[in-house]
Amino acid sequence: MSYRVLILGANGFIGSALTAAILRERDWEVFGIDLSDHKLGELTSNPRFKFIEGDITINREWVKYHIKKADAILPLVAIANPAQYVKDPLRVFELDFEANLEVIRDCVNYRKRLIFPSTSEIYGMSPDAELDEESSALVYGPVNKQRWIYAASKQLLDRVIYAYGVRDQFDYTLFRPFNFIGPNLDDIYEAKEGSSRVFTQFLSNIMHRHPIRLVDGGEQKRSFTYIDDAVECLLRIIDNKNGVASREIFNIGNPANCMSVKDLAHLMVETAQEFPQWSERARTTSITSVPSADYYGQYYQDIQTRVPSIRKTVERLGWAPTADLQAAIRKTIEYYVRSESRYRCSAVELKNIA
Ligand code: UGA
Repeated sequence: MSYRVLILGANGFIGSALTAAILRERDWEVFGIDLSDHKLGELTSNPRFKFIEGDITINREWVKYHIKKADAILPLVAIANPAQYVKDPLRVFELDFEANLEVIRDCVNYRKRLIFPSTSEIYGMSPDAELDEESSALVYGPVNKQRWIYAASKQLLDRVIYAYGVRDQFDYTLFRPFNFIGPNLDDIYEAKEGSSRVFTQFLSNIMHRHPIRLVDGGEQKRSFTYIDDAVECLLRIIDNKNGVASREIFNIGNPANCMSVKDLAHLMVETAQEFPQWSERARTTSITSVPSADYYGQYYQDIQTRVPSIRKTVERLGWAPTADLQAAIRKTIEYYVRSESRYRCSAVELKNIA
């Protein structure tokens, strides 16, 4: 019988890219659930992919049954957009923490291997130049800065999973994505600010001819990781050759792609000008600054620098990221140039049908 992977949130950014890679590069079966399937395209007709549309909190029995059937479980359902942490912190707690805790307990009860998304946010405002899975302190702001509810929820889940590993020899891997970027991170056609993370937001601003707004001047830095590199690392974690990833925590990131948000904005505008379909829009995109209190509101607090140590990930998994930031931006714009014409066509078709 072939290896079976269960992906909760298969239509998400990571879920859809991972499903595609598994079906392309491995002979495993994939079971998936999500609220919709628009990022999955033709994958849903692959005979090795069994997908249902549904909500993990409503379709509890489906989820439980498939946890029992699967060899590895990836619960990727979560709200992961900082604007939402400050707007609806309790929803973040309910979905990211409560709903996932049930899934984690099912995996423990059925003794199934869990591959769980922790987050780069877990390190919070840690002062370390490179954030290390085993030694960096996790530093958050006060409770009135509600931004930290996401990191705090994820931190407690990490600790719970770790404790099950110590007590029950429970088999898990925690992975920490560092600003994964690429096509379909968020909805680029959604022009509303705050609906996307920075990478999609800036592309969307260019596309819709809206000014790019740098929160507090944009000196804060992130390390951006192209989704193909990230997925390659996840495949190795699922492979788990000789148990190399069992009961381990891995940063998945690209320290060479550490850049300020301001420099990212300029690089994106510059790179978009290489594409005839985008060049005029990019040339006329203005870049301004906005106070974080105006952009996110009073409950926000930022992280100034976030660079992963990937020493352990490289050593244990034999993995290394390859896409530099400009290549990642180019590949993403190429994707949207192609899909924009399709999107326009289908919008016209929909209008005609209506
Ligand atoms: C993200 C999210 O919390 C999660 O997606 C995830 O857990 C994690 O980090 C990750 O991907 O590693 P953050 O990097 O702060 O957090 O999220 P972005 O929305 O991508 O913002 C990055 C920076 O750009 C922030 O400093 C933000 O203030 C700034 N920004 C955002 C702008 O300057 N302008 C904008 O229009 C949007």
